[in-house]
This record gives sequence, structure tokens and C-alpha cells, in this order.
Amino acid sequence: MRIIIKKDQTQAGEWTAAYIIEKIRKTNSEKNRPFVLGLPTGSSPIPVYRELVKRHQAGDISFKNVITFNMDEYVGLPQDHTESYHYFMFDNLFNHIDIPPENINILNGNAKDLQQECEDYEKKIVDAGGIDLFLGGIGPDGHIAFNEPGSSLASRTRIKTLTYDTVLANSRFFNGDLAKVPRMALTVGVGTVMDAREVVLIVTGFNKARALKEVVEGGISHMWTASILQMHPKGIIVCDESATMEMQMETVKYFSNLENSQF
Ligand code: GLP
Repeated sequence: MRIIIKKDQTQAGEWTAAYIIEKIRKTNSEKNRPFVLGLPTGSSPIPVYRELVKRHQAGDISFKNVITFNMDEYVGLPQDHTESYHYFMFDNLFNHIDIPPENINILNGNAKDLQQECEDYEKKIVDAGGIDLFLGGIGPDGHIAFNEPGSSLASRTRIKTLTYDTVLANSRFFNGDLAKVPRMALTVGVGTVMDAREVVLIVTGFNKARALKEVVEGGISHMWTASILQMHPKGIIVCDESATMEMQMETVKYFSNLENSQF
């Protein structure tokens, strides 16, 4: 696992966007095929999306040859609701780049048959050739996508009931009204994320410090589902200094030295 520690959220976002752009370019030119990118929502990836849009507008990168798969979506929220993940993705990224609409994949939380929707999503990922890079965030309880504590580390795309902690954390987007937060979501599984050829998690802010400590220094545990990244052959955590506050100084120095060493 690589851990990239940046001063703040903006720098973490810039680093991550530059990394993704490089991967898209390489796959498009050297492998001559579309780049398949997994995407999260939440506040953590916003600086990444802002930078991707900026670099696109500067003419640095085209998304014409990129296919995306989003991690999750609430069940029962209309797609045009301002807190739906559909709305979020178009508002923060897709409306501002040149990705063909048919290349965008987001789970439909209003599908008639939710189980079928999840199965079809897994199939679509396989048909696209698998995910090259899954970008993710983590919840304060260390969850990845909506794989809440206790989720199977081998799970696939499915319907999940959200924990009280997540409903509470996400109520900030619903005027603090817990009753308005959907109780269920469709989410890719931990196994779906782990199948990606590369996984990059963006973890910023002091409220993620405990989770980051557990994910990096703790053992692999279904109670901190993002800790499974320890098993990924190509896992990167991009964090800011605030998120490292609960880790041992030794851990922080170790990973910083690795990144800074010239040999
Ligand atoms: C939700 C999303 C996750 C996201 C998490 C943290 O639970 N399903 O994908 O990582 O929130 O969000 P934030 O980045 O806003 O803290």
C-alpha cells in the first residue's frame, strides 16, 4: 500500500487528479482502449473533480475514451433530487467534461427490480473489461461505498440498509433532518472494488483520522471495510495531514520517507 500525505484537501485532490489523468492517457494511447474508472460521491472527492474539470477545460485531458461506474446510489430518491448521487455526479463532474453520456454508469435506485439492477451492474463492469482504477472515499466508520461495518469483505453489488451513523453523517446534506435521509442504498460490494486493477482512496479531514488509523494500522476487519485495501496489490491512500492525526508518528514518517526517498 502507498500512502501519499498532502498538506490539505486541495493538494490531495490535485495529486489524485493528476494521477488519474496520467492513467487515462497511458491506457488510451498505449493500450488503445477506453479507461474504465470507478467513482465515488461525498465531499472527499470534490477537490479531485474540481481539478479534473479544470485540467479538462485547460485542454489537458479528454474523457471521450473513458467509461465510468459509480459506487453507489440511494434507494428511492428521484434522480433529479439534489442529494441523489446522479445529481451530484452530473453537477460536480459530468456536466463539465466531454464524456459521452452512454459511457456513464450509475446504479438506478428506482429500478423496479433492485436485485436485478445489481446483478446487471456487475455484468456491465465485466463487459467493459473490468475497472482500471476505483477511486473511493471512506466514511468516518471506515466504510467504503456503502459497505457498512460488518459487510462481507467478499460482497458484490447489492442492496444495503444504512447504519444509524451513516444516516446521521449524511443528514448534513438533508438540512440535518434524519427523517429525510434514505435508509437504503445500492452499492458495489467490497469484492467489486477489490477486483479493480487499482484502488485509490481519498481520505481527508480530522473526522476521518480514527478510520484512517484503523484502516492502515489495524488488522483487516469487516468492521472497517476499507481495511481490505491492505490485501490489494495496487492500493493507494491519498490523505491530508489532518487525517493522519491518530496514526502513530512512526507510521506517518515511514510512509512519508518511502514517498520522498530518491532511490
Ligand atoms: C457516503 C458514500 C461513500 C463516501 C462517504 C464519505 O457514505 N456512500 O462513498 O465515501 O459517504 O463521504 P464524505 O467524503 O462526504 O465524508
